[in-house]
Amino acid sequence: MQEYERLLEEQPSFRANQQRAEVFTARAVTSGEAARVASTVVTIPTVVHVVHKKPAENITKAQVRSQIDALNADFRAKNPDVTKVPDPWKGLVADAKIRFRLATTDPDGKRTDGIVRVATDRASFGAGDAVKRVASGGSAAWPTDRYLNIWVCTLGGGLLGYAQFPGGPKATDGVVILNTAFGTEGSASAPFDQGRTLTHEVGHWLNLRHIWGDTLDCSGGDRVPDTPNCEGPNTGKPTFPVVTCNNAPYGDMFMNYMDYVDDAAMFMFTAGQVSRMNACLAGPRKSFLA
Ligand code: ARG
Ligand code: ZN
Ligand code: CA
Repeated sequence: MQEYERLLEEQPSFRANQQRAEVFTARAVTSGEAARVASTVVTIPTVVHVVHKKPAENITKAQVRSQIDALNADFRAKNPDVTKVPDPWKGLVADAKIRFRLATTDPDGKRTDGIVRVATDRASFGAGDAVKRVASGGSAAWPTDRYLNIWVCTLGGGLLGYAQFPGGPKATDGVVILNTAFGTEGSASAPFDQGRTLTHEVGHWLNLRHIWGDTLDCSGGDRVPDTPNCEGPNTGKPTFPVVTCNNAPYGDMFMNYMDYVDDAAMFMFTAGQVSRMNACLAGPRKSFLA
């Protein structure tokens, strides 16, 4: 959110694009345009930039693959733990019909495994986008209208990852994930070792908000009608129900990917969130539709 506020301040076009996306989303959700996107599975070519100083930061291809597999399971509602969704909400679980595939051709048309490895002399990065620029020890984005760019690096300050919402500057579009919160093997470490940091950040990249709406007083929402209004982030492994903001009896949907709970405690997107993501693919990110 800090990154979001900074972009709103520094990039006048980002504010306008975000407003336009909101108007478009409302229309696309009601008109059925978002639903049309969901009539086929959309494939998103993906590039992973592994930015490393210490050998352990140069994660294996197997760890990268474990992350793409987890991401795909979550976005197709094929994650095994989806069975843990509380009964009253089982009917809201939705398949986003989005598939992520490591790129097989690079921007020059050459074959690639979709992984770019860059050695850096920086011990860690922050939310300021340095990892996305060669001049600041990072790796440059591949064309952001054709690839989802994922940077994997060491992040300071307890940050697990951050994303850029649609409508922002091209050079920094994509998501950044802490290397020890990436994938399900290798250096991935509990309680963030099920790949859900990427699921959460890609949710933002497709224009999803946190379920509490980023206010701590029940006033803000996520602009999604089927996620209950709630007060603030949940953490750890909460016990159902957690009631806030007059949302009894079922309370907060803390098991949603767009909350802040542990990886093992989050396992669903709702139909409303899926139509918002599909509206994003019909609008601000339509360059990904074949
Ligand atoms: N940007 C959030 C953070 O850094 C990501 C939270 C992801 N949550 C998770 N269980 N993996 O805190
Ligand atoms: Zn978030
Ligand atoms: Ca809501």
